Amino acid sequence: MTPTPNTDFHALCRQVKALLSPAEPRVYVQTFGCQQNVADGEKMLGIACEMGYSPCERPEEADLILVNTCAIREHAEIKALSVVGQYKHLWEQNPDLIIGVTGCMTAQAHRVEQIRRSYPYITFTLAPGALHEMPQMVLYALQNRLGQKVARRHFALEQQTDTVTEGLPVCRGERHRAWVPVMYGCNNFCSYCIVPYVRGRERSRASGEIVREVKELIEGGVREITLLGQNVNSYRGDVDFATLLSRLAELEGDFLLHFMTSHPKDVPDELIRVMADHPDHIAPRFHLPLQSGSDRILAAMNRRYTAQRYLGIVDRLRAAMPHISLTTDIIVGFPGETEEDFAQTLEVLRRVQFDMVYAFVYSPRKGTAAAEMPDQVPDDEKKSRMNRLLSLQGDISLACAKRFEGQTVRVLVDGPAKTGEHMYSGRTAQNRLVHFPSEADLTGQYVRVRVDRADAFALYGTVTE
Ligand code: 5AD
Ligand code: SF4
Repeated sequence: MTPTPNTDFHALCRQVKALLSPAEPRVYVQTFGCQQNVADGEKMLGIACEMGYSPCERPEEADLILVNTCAIREHAEIKALSVVGQYKHLWEQNPDLIIGVTGCMTAQAHRVEQIRRSYPYITFTLAPGALHEMPQMVLYALQNRLGQKVARRHFALEQQTDTVTEGLPVCRGERHRAWVPVMYGCNNFCSYCIVPYVRGRERSRASGEIVREVKELIEGGVREITLLGQNVNSYRGDVDFATLLSRLAELEGDFLLHFMTSHPKDVPDELIRVMADHPDHIAPRFHLPLQSGSDRILAAMNRRYTAQRYLGIVDRLRAAMPHISLTTDIIVGFPGETEEDFAQTLEVLRRVQFDMVYAFVYSPRKGTAAAEMPDQVPDDEKKSRMNRLLSLQGDISLACAKRFEGQTVRVLVDGPAKTGEHMYSGRTAQNRLVHFPSEADLTGQYVRVRVDRADAFALYGTVTE
């Protein structure tokens, strides 16, 4: 493990700064995908700021554009490539513009090759494990421009699969919420998933580093902190995840910890006990991807649990925390999924009554085992199953939300809502979206809201204090 970014990191940032023109260069970071990517995007912005750039709101104003891509489904890649394509006209207007493509898409050799061939104005690509190399990339680009180096347009780096880089600067998007990655990568190789190929093997940060960062955030006024990892509960630093969580929960202050995403194979009783023992500091919610309710499909997905075992975890969570909010991910139309398999998934949804389900149509990912499996489900069948699932879950989510009508909930205010003038929104500890009117700007504060009305997606209410 390397506990610091490469030793030249800060020196390289200074070198970049010395070469930058105009006097006030701007950076625009565009992030797609999951919270881990959002956290990476905040680091990219932090690194760019250390190099002397300041953030701007629109790509047209930027001297450095970073497109932080996602590869989880084909649609995500198509979207990112389309954005990369649109930036050609900005480069034509300003050939000094530096455009870097980062994120999971660029950890795949065939995508790097495609970018090299089809988007020659892209200055560099940088896989997610190699963010600390960004100053070097930008420095090369600036030196090329000054004719100090042989022209080189591409600096694709293999991701670094065995290192954790500590100490990179971070420019956080919000003052009252923060994302804190605790582990990176994934060892599970679920047969549909690209993540282990693009984010590498699991590696965990040292618990002392995490405690230090969380403590600093709390002292700086951050209220809610989400611990992140592709398999956050498989965290294996110098302690296990339950121990890490209890150490964090025992810190002083008015704060709430969230964590995501968990794998059902790693939910020991100890973790549930730590959550139940710290209701003031650990949010009563659990995001636990089920993926399918059919044991046959779960085996083909290489998930290593059965529906029965999953239901056992749900029972244990609810026994310890009756009001816990449960959410899940489902993949619809995995290869070989029959009507019977799909019916079993719906059955688990009826049985568990999840607060919210994130459902995805299966998307074959090049290089994964499932992409080569026979019996790929036809698109119209996938769509039909998706619609049926959404309809069932819509009713369940609505029923879950209706239970809040008449109750008073504590809400961390995120800011003005788009739903109308003087409307604000925030989230409860269970991560429910709440809209309410307010004359005062309450952003970043906790308020109590009486819930007047609920739909499947949000609660609507009145501030009581
Ligand atoms: N197709 C569709 N959904 C996928 N997911 C991961 N890989 C794929 C894929 N190839 C979903 C899983 C995971 C969530 C983040 O994305 O449900 O939990
Ligand atoms: Fe992908 Fe499975 Fe790892 Fe989650 S646990 S990131 S679904 S391989």
